[in-house]
Amino acid sequence: MANVIISGMQWGDEGKGKIVDLICPAFDAVVRFQGGHNAGHTVKFGARHFALRLIPSGIIHPGTACVLGNGMVLAPDAFFSELESLAAGGVEAGGRLWVSERVQVLLPAHAALDQAREAARGARSIGTTSRGIGPAYESKASRCGLRAVDLFATDLSERVRELLAQVAGGALPAEDALAGLVTDCRRWGERLAPYLADTAAMLHEWIDAGRNLLFEGAQGALLDVDHGTYPFVTSSNTTAGGACTGTGVPPTALDGAIGVLKAYTTRVGAGPFVSELHDEMGERIRQRGNEFGTVTGRPRRCGWFDAVAADYARRLNGITAFALTKLDVLDELAEIPVCIGYELDGKVARRFPSRLDELARARPVYEVLPGWQSSTVGILREADLPANARDYVRFLAAQVGAEAVMISTGPRREETIVRDDSPGLRRFLGERLEAVLAGRGA
Ligand code: GDP
Ligand code: IMO
Ligand code: MG
Repeated sequence: MANVIISGMQWGDEGKGKIVDLICPAFDAVVRFQGGHNAGHTVKFGARHFALRLIPSGIIHPGTACVLGNGMVLAPDAFFSELESLAAGGVEAGGRLWVSERVQVLLPAHAALDQAREAARGARSIGTTSRGIGPAYESKASRCGLRAVDLFATDLSERVRELLAQVAGGALPAEDALAGLVTDCRRWGERLAPYLADTAAMLHEWIDAGRNLLFEGAQGALLDVDHGTYPFVTSSNTTAGGACTGTGVPPTALDGAIGVLKAYTTRVGAGPFVSELHDEMGERIRQRGNEFGTVTGRPRRCGWFDAVAADYARRLNGITAFALTKLDVLDELAEIPVCIGYELDGKVARRFPSRLDELARARPVYEVLPGWQSSTVGILREADLPANARDYVRFLAAQVGAEAVMISTGPRREETIVRDDSPGLRRFLGERLEAVLAGRGA
């Protein structure tokens, strides 16, 4: 048995949703631990298509329990509308979906502040998803936030007054705005009540009973508030350590993380991106990879695979095994450069700089690999990949210092190479690897 984290190793949108959905049959529950509805996780199989934001991707699997951990920020209306659209798609979450009583509530005022700040920053804006994620985490850290359980507090009015004042930078809220929000809070509390639980206690019990837990990360290592390209980051710990603080599960109960890496790099929003392509090639990858945000529809910035950044993410997350996604997007290319070093002030290094000006000045050093110029779409066995594609995957694995245990060759669950001969994968999935293969089909 194993308790495993799925970690994005770039700037998000690596295909975490697809990988969580694929390996879900090896687990009893899927747990989100940070972020909010800034995330957009796509799950596709057959003719079905789901876009998850707050709710773990495991919800698509009928028997799987799902948990939203205390480390998340939850916008109640976004949660309810996600439940409704799942129900419309035939997915019933009742009785197996649990929200931490300690989760922070994200208010409309947080989203309004996020938008106002971004507008005020003008050219220096971060390019947030404008959902209010940063302000909600600020309220939490400043101890003015409302946890889900606080929606039932006897002093709710006072708590809401204090929170609104904090969000407004000290200005006292108008009485009618205050009364309206208190009413909303009571309504949200009532509707959330059936889902609320002491999820930390619940997870401890499940672990004691030997159940297998999958922790679904959102965003990616380079968006981590501590380790990413600050201030061009999100406001939570996206790296593996966040799975502990964001759920109450201790590190001793975790068996490690499987990383997810795209075969190239993308980023939405502003901030340095060393291997970014500003030319026609970037546009070609964007079109072929359909690189447009799941949440905001924004075009994603595209560039070559950055091994310096991926190696940094490997160390932050303790990655030994990773899933490589979107290999098929590179099918047509004659040559594929991979960034293997950063040149800074005449020196080449493999260190990921903390200083943003250094990162902005760093020039990518490329090793150019030959392309394969044939279709890999839907290939299910590594041996069936063109030789150059196999070499490309091996090269990336060697650069990152970890094993590619899954290779994704299309958006759908069925379009994935699963290295069932890999001890590195079996370590995480055990005998239930067979169930994963059966779920993938073919
Ligand atoms: P996440 O946020 O990490 O879950 O990733 P997203 O769902 O936001 O973005 C990944 C996108 O790539 C989605 O549209 C997926 O359907 C798609 N995708 C995932 N894996 C593959 C793949 O191997 N090939 C192709 N062509 N698309 C993929
Ligand atoms: P998933 O889970 C890609 C980016 C935003 C912006 C920065 C801060 O789908 O991989 P925020 O709204 O969080 O304050 O924005 O983080 N961002 C993401 N980029 N994928 C995501 O999630 C993201 N969530 C936030 O674009 O640059
Ligand atoms: Mg996404």
